[in-house]
Amino acid sequence: MNTFPDAILNKLRAPGPLIAPSILSADFAALGAELRSVESADWVHVDVMDGRFVPNITIGPLVAAAAARVSPLPIDCHLMIVEPERYVAEFAKAGAHLITVHAEASPHLDRTVAAVREAGCWAGVSLNPHTHESCLEYVLERLDVVLLMTVNPGFGGQSLIDRVFPKVERVRERIERRGLQTRVQVDGGVKADNIRRFTDAGADVMVAGSAVFGAPDRAAAIAALRSAALRGA
Ligand code: DX5
Ligand code: ZN
Repeated sequence: MNTFPDAILNKLRAPGPLIAPSILSADFAALGAELRSVESADWVHVDVMDGRFVPNITIGPLVAAAAARVSPLPIDCHLMIVEPERYVAEFAKAGAHLITVHAEASPHLDRTVAAVREAGCWAGVSLNPHTHESCLEYVLERLDVVLLMTVNPGFGGQSLIDRVFPKVERVRERIERRGLQTRVQVDGGVKADNIRRFTDAGADVMVAGSAVFGAPDRAAAIAALRSAALRGA
């Protein structure tokens, strides 16, 4: 079981909508200051890419550990890598609180999810836009987070694929039907002018990269996302 401090657990469990800025769109030459600029958000989203599962190569455990040292927020590591099971222990050691792996990248998903939980982290499973939610059927009970990609993973700043909204609704329905606490996170193309659509579909954790780090005033951008998630832009 995880042994997170109460402050982290409370933020992981806080009532949504939550905002999780993705540091993929941050200035890596000033990562400490960038992380401090988003402390009014809820989670810090760390996009790990290997140049194999996705075309891009980004962050490894070293940078995740640096983020964990600087930020008081939960560190949410989204592994877009093949064979994610090989790196679970390293990301847990780096200070990740949530480790999310792709269903498409892990043939033994049940075992990988068990490894994440044994490493003391919250466990998430992510689905690419085309992947049917039925693959969660026999693992859902063990998940803290379902991360639904609303772009094809690999890059920040892409436009939302809105064909994914019905999937967000269906995943939320499955979770409610089973009486689970699993969070529904969405990732890709989230902006103040569309975030309400995600909330309405049943998402409660919104990743936002360019919408936060592309804005000069991060606190204002986060506040605008929060308010639009509840009331619309
Ligand atoms: C995409 C990543 C996202 C990305 C989101 O592969 O998983 O987290 O950084 O960026 P925006 O919000 O700019 O679409
Ligand atoms: Zn991501």
